[in-house]
Amino acid sequence: MPDQPFDLVVIGSGPGGYVAAIRAAQLGLRTAVVEKDSVLGGTCLNIGCIPSKALLYSTEIYHTVATRGAVHGLKVGKLTPDIAALMQRKTEVVGKLTGGVKLLLEKRGVAIIQGTGRLAAAGRVVEVTAANGSIQKLDTKNVLVATGSSSVELPFLKFDGRLVVSSDQAIAFPEVPAKLVVVGAGAIGLELGSVWARLGSEVTVVEMLPRIAPAYDEDVSRLAQRLLQKQGLKFELGAKVTGVKFERGQSFLTAQRDGQPLLFPADKILVAVGRKPNTAGLGAAEIGLALDPQGRVIVDDHYRTNVSGVFAIGDVIAGPMLAHKAEEEGVACVELIAGKAGHVNYAAIPNVIYTEPEIASVGLGETDAKAKGIPFRIGKFNLAANGRALASDAADGFVKIIADPKTDRLLGAQILAHNASELIAAVTPHLEYGGSAEDVARTIYAHPTMAEAIKEAALAVDSRAIHAL
Ligand code: NAI
Repeated sequence: MPDQPFDLVVIGSGPGGYVAAIRAAQLGLRTAVVEKDSVLGGTCLNIGCIPSKALLYSTEIYHTVATRGAVHGLKVGKLTPDIAALMQRKTEVVGKLTGGVKLLLEKRGVAIIQGTGRLAAAGRVVEVTAANGSIQKLDTKNVLVATGSSSVELPFLKFDGRLVVSSDQAIAFPEVPAKLVVVGAGAIGLELGSVWARLGSEVTVVEMLPRIAPAYDEDVSRLAQRLLQKQGLKFELGAKVTGVKFERGQSFLTAQRDGQPLLFPADKILVAVGRKPNTAGLGAAEIGLALDPQGRVIVDDHYRTNVSGVFAIGDVIAGPMLAHKAEEEGVACVELIAGKAGHVNYAAIPNVIYTEPEIASVGLGETDAKAKGIPFRIGKFNLAANGRALASDAADGFVKIIADPKTDRLLGAQILAHNASELIAAVTPHLEYGGSAEDVARTIYAHPTMAEAIKEAALAVDSRAIHAL
């Protein structure tokens, strides 16, 4: 361990924390990372982004071969998923990445300290309690709180780890639940609902709002719902969950719609209604760290809290709970601490739900623009008219470009497409550099690629898409 005092102690080794620590070490700061778990990487690497994507990939192959194999001339016998093998592959992927984080931190000379970190002595001391109860004190000039978030629990539907579970368990069911009820049609609900539906579970998604993926445009929600229904997912929208009940050996999720009671048989209930910031045990109250009414650490535009020397980034502060947002904030925060000009452009943060097709957006959406009274023009292009999409059996979905009607400046994009997570990356730089729909339209995308649909959508803003009637 380097000599104390540290220049920076980062509490939490998720994408926000470990990336910040690496950047800090690059800038010559004596840095330590405190992590309560025995492995590094936080939610994203261990129980979030990465394991879910591993499961989504494995189950997509299975589902495609099972449902579309014959169309592609593939004759296969009876396909059966091996859940233990699928989980093993997921675990190996996670292990490679968490091991990689450890290596990266060690190579940079970042001290890795295992235990639960607590702010002490007005933020200049971090007290770390190890699993065996021993306590060590770290003196530091600065502390970065990057403690992330955890699943929100509904008071009338408490997690029991057996019937009522969070994504922590739903990424690791040992067998396919015959009936899975998912509460919440957001990112986690749709992704894990897809995983288990593809494996044969009867999945019902119960959402309180009138549409799925409510953070995206209405036309995206509508088509995504239709396509997911074709894959076997059932949706119960506008339904208010009330609890759980047991009758004759069967458990049920209970809900209400327009005052009418609803009952859904469930072998597992996945509650995915959002996440809450992790501040418990941090010593926030003791040092007077200010939290907002949602329990998030309040920061200014330099990620400074109200306690001198204490900074915070990622899911524990306001804004979208996304790994890449946390990473950018971590880098910007550390650069500012080091006297450089760190900055995050919140207007150009992509957002993705990794269903099939994937749902992706960046910047302003059409629904949002309407709600806020912001003038806009849109251009939309259906993938059914894109050669690569047809060749790849991925013709469902569309690209939509949203631009300023006067200046043509790009305002945002929404994409429902196979690999939309990668396609959105072809739009984001235009937004980042303040480009126009015309700039996107003049960009050359290789043929045949699904990215050509982005160019066509940008041309459609000016009613001149080539491959559209
Ligand atoms: P979410 O905020 O994405 O979706 C929660 C959904 O639950 C919303 O549609 C909401 O209307 C609904 N809901 C809330 N209370 C409800 C109730 N009582 N009954 C029925 N429905 C209710 O939250 P989610 O899916 O839990 O994800 C948590 C966080 O993790 C999000 O911020 C998300 O962005 C992030 N995440 C990101 C992923 C990605 O980038 N692909 C994947 C998974 C999570």
